[in-house]
Amino acid sequence: MSNLYGRRVLLGVTGGIAAYKSPDLVRRLREAGAQVRVAMTAGAMEFVRPLTFQAVSGEPVHHDLLDPAAEAAMGHIELARWADQVLVAPASANFMARLAHGMADDLLTTLCLATEAPIALAPAMNRVMWANAATLANRDLLVRRGIRMIGPGSGDQACGEVGEGRMLDVPDIVAALTGDPAEPGPLDGTRVLVTVGPTREAVDPVRFLSNRSSGRMGFAVAAAARRMGAEVVAVAGPCAVSTPPGVERVDVETAAQMHEAVMARAPGCDIFVGAAAVADYRVAEVPEAKIKKNDDTLTLSLLKNPDILQSVAALPDPPFTVGFAAETHDLRDHAEAKRRRKSLDMIAANWVGRAQGGFEGDENALEVLWEGGGRSLGMQSKAALADALMELVAERYHEERGSQDSR
Ligand code: PMT
Repeated sequence: MSNLYGRRVLLGVTGGIAAYKSPDLVRRLREAGAQVRVAMTAGAMEFVRPLTFQAVSGEPVHHDLLDPAAEAAMGHIELARWADQVLVAPASANFMARLAHGMADDLLTTLCLATEAPIALAPAMNRVMWANAATLANRDLLVRRGIRMIGPGSGDQACGEVGEGRMLDVPDIVAALTGDPAEPGPLDGTRVLVTVGPTREAVDPVRFLSNRSSGRMGFAVAAAARRMGAEVVAVAGPCAVSTPPGVERVDVETAAQMHEAVMARAPGCDIFVGAAAVADYRVAEVPEAKIKKNDDTLTLSLLKNPDILQSVAALPDPPFTVGFAAETHDLRDHAEAKRRRKSLDMIAANWVGRAQGGFEGDENALEVLWEGGGRSLGMQSKAALADALMELVAERYHEERGSQDSR
């Protein structure tokens, strides 16, 4: 189930009796870690009320292309861009025909035309409708255009007939969407260590110094590495983000604790990614009692924390080491200087302190740099961005390993 962690799934529901299973599908997708928004056709609303989907998804339901209120909240183009994955379940014969012919005559078909996300359909219809030459031709056309068919299955149908055309069961649709575990991923057999979130440095027993890191970017990287087949350990500072399925989490609080936890594990790992926003300084002497506000000013004496990333890169046989750089100006120059100074294989630089991207939000963009190359990864969900980053890491890691092995 790990493949849907942090994914934004746009679930389209069309008119068919199988629509009664779709609220359960929403629930299962959310359990697998996805954020789900629902778009319904007019036919679907004859079978299930939008309120049901609103209750199970926790999000407003979309159904009208020309609804000014819905457009003001999240326009259809924005919704098409928001999705990492479009899933239409059930997909009726009529919907498949309209999609195959490029119609944009309701919200759902328009979203499918306007999205760059992969589209999957779970067809559901009477067996004769499914076997009709028109439907099969539409299916073939859609498959040739890269649209994925999940099912249909065969068996008892709601109309009393038996045959091919019924929507697959909800767990099978979710399993199909999460990918075939039998397929080897590009990080199969590797061990990946990731630092995540902020650290906290005590000022006194009740106060601390910290930063805005939520842990979203770091856990998205951990989830992406896991999806690609790695064994993943995440050493996380205090953050409320849930652990991706299949990832081992080690909780720490301070930079010193993070340093210790990482250095105990780094020698055994193949790839290290420093996504944490580690506090550069800690308070030199933390008093046992709460500091009283007797004076108008308070001076804290700070000591530099160990640099975890640099310590890993300086190991005698270091893993493939990837740093992050959080910058407010001269992004590329500062990041490249950090990459060289810390002897990193790669650095992923992001802007912080701007309206979009960086800390806390759900989206980010990265400038990824390595010796002699680089790639810009545009603004997108942290889940999709982490996938793209880890693809680059896997490519560079195998290239470097290959050239080391052939020496
Ligand atoms: O958690 P989110 O809210 O999703 O936000 C994501 C993020 C903005 C925190 C993340 O994308 C990011 O940029 N992480 C690195 C933040 C940071 O500390 O950058 P830096 O430029 O100060 O540090 C450079 C690198 O050195 C980082 O890989 C950092 O983990 C590492 N470092 C820094 C200091 C230290 N003592 N030890 C370290 O390992």
